[in-house]
Amino acid sequence: MRSDGIIVAIDGPAGVGKSTVGKLVAGRLGYRFISTGKMYRALAWKALETGAGLEDDEKLVALAGSLKWEFPRGSGPEADVSLDGRRLALELAEERVSKASSGIARLAGVRLFMRGMQREAGLNGGVVMEGRDIGTNVFPDAELKIYLDASPQARAARRTSQLRGQGLEADYAQILDFIIKRDAQDSGRKNNPLKKAEDAFYLDSTVMPRDKVVDAILELFRTRVEDLKI
Ligand code: C5P
Repeated sequence: MRSDGIIVAIDGPAGVGKSTVGKLVAGRLGYRFISTGKMYRALAWKALETGAGLEDDEKLVALAGSLKWEFPRGSGPEADVSLDGRRLALELAEERVSKASSGIARLAGVRLFMRGMQREAGLNGGVVMEGRDIGTNVFPDAELKIYLDASPQARAARRTSQLRGQGLEADYAQILDFIIKRDAQDSGRKNNPLKKAEDAFYLDSTVMPRDKVVDAILELFRTRVEDLKI
C-alpha cells in the first residue's frame, strides 16, 4: 500500500475537463492534483523561449535535464510548475504552447523523461493525476483509472463559452478544428498514444454536468477503496 493513499488516474482528450474535474475530486479527497500536461507545456514553453527547436528529441531531453523542476503547492490541491525558480502559469495556456506541447509529446525520449518525473511525483499515492497515458503507461498499476470523454463539438462549445466568459474572443469553428487536430495527433502517435486502459472506467461527459462527473468519480473511489480494504 502507498503511504498517502491511492492513485487516481484520469486520462482523456483535450478540453474534456480533466483538470477541472480532477481538482474538484482531489479537493474533496484531500489529495494532491497533478496535471501532467503542464509538464509537457512547460518544456515546450522553454524550448520556444530558448529557440531550442521542437523536433530534436535528444536536445529536448538535454534541455529538460538541465532545468530545475519544482512543483510548488498553491492554495488549492493543484501544484504549479516552476522551472529554474520561475513559476509558470498564464504562459502555459498560450495557443503556441498547446500546439508545441502536443508536438514534443510525440518524442520517445521526452516521454521517458516525463514519465520518470511523473512517477516520482505520484509514487506515494494520495494523488489525482491527469493526462493522456497515466493509466496505460505512467501508472499502469493505479488503483483507480478513469477515461473521461466527450464529443469534440461539446468540448469546443465549452471552451468557446469559457473564453468568452473571460471576455476573450473565441471562434467556435476554429476551436473545433484545433481540438480535432490535437485529438488526431495525441491518439495517432506511436509512443504512448491516448487510449483507454482496459481496466479504466469510461465516463462520457458530453451531456453530463461537471458535478455529476465529480460525484461519479467519488463513488467509484469509495467502491474501490472498500474493495481494496484500505
Ligand atoms: O492536457 P494538456 O492539454 O495540458 O496537454 C498538453 C499536451 O501534452 C497534449 O496535447 C498531449 O499531447 C501532451 N500530453 C501527453 N501525455 C500526458 C499529458 C499531456 O502526451 N500525460
